[in-house]
Parts: sequence; C-alpha cells; structure tokens
Amino acid sequence: MPGLYITRREIFSASHRLWNPELSEKQNIEMYDKCANPNGHGHNFVLEVTVTGDVKKESGYLMDFKKLKTIIREEIISKVDHKHLNSDVAFLKNVIPTAENLVRAFWQVLEDKINGAKLFSIRLRETENNTVEYRGEE
Ligand code: NI
Repeated sequence: MPGLYITRREIFSASHRLWNPELSEKQNIEMYDKCANPNGHGHNFVLEVTVTGDVKKESGYLMDFKKLKTIIREEIISKVDHKHLNSDVAFLKNVIPTAENLVRAFWQVLEDKINGAKLFSIRLRETENNTVEYRGEE
C-alpha cells in the first residue's frame, strides 16, 4: 500500500424501510422498531469514497478528483438520489437497505469502475451520529 489516500464526498437523499421479508411482522418490529414503519423514512446520506494508489509523475495526481466525482455520480448518486432504496434501484434488488448493506452494494458497483487507483474504503453517514465504513473483504 502506497500510504496515500484521496477521498471524494457526495451527498444524496433517499428513503428506505428496514424489513426482512423472511421474518414475521412481530419479529421485524422487534428488530427494526420505527425503521420498519410501512411507508419508510428518509435520510440525507453522506457518502465518502476513498481510493489509494501511486502518484503519477506526469500529473502529480493519485487520481483526478474530477474523474472520481464523475464515476461516483454516474454509478451511484444518479441511481439512488431521491429514490426509495427498497424498490427503485436495480442493484439493490432483494437487499435490506441498511447502511451496512448499502456500502457493500456500492463497493460492488464501484470496484471495477475505478481505473488507475484502488478502492480503499466507502463510508456512509446515515445520521450525524451513525456512520458505516467498508474496506472490502479482508
Ligand atoms: Ni433509516
């Protein structure tokens, strides 16, 4: 690992409902409480994507932030912003849209799209106090 990291932040607003269709209504309400409310609820999510790699001699860049921004916006933000994550997003089909599952799904989408650098971590802030970070499979 080269020891140098760059992070691009993007924000999106989306709704979700935490519900496991394999469990009973009682079990879902016990597990998810108000996050299981029938019509869902919304968050202003903060997404941070960190990549690592070598600084290219010619550009002095690890990766052009503009390119990173474009990839994140095209592959993730355009598909999740102002959407209902349980029903509107193809790559989240059959995924319970917890922050933990969202970062893993985002990783699958972004991993192969980032050229010339390596995806290092994806952080998703769901509320002021709750953030999930994923660094890929160990
Ligand atoms: Ni929520």
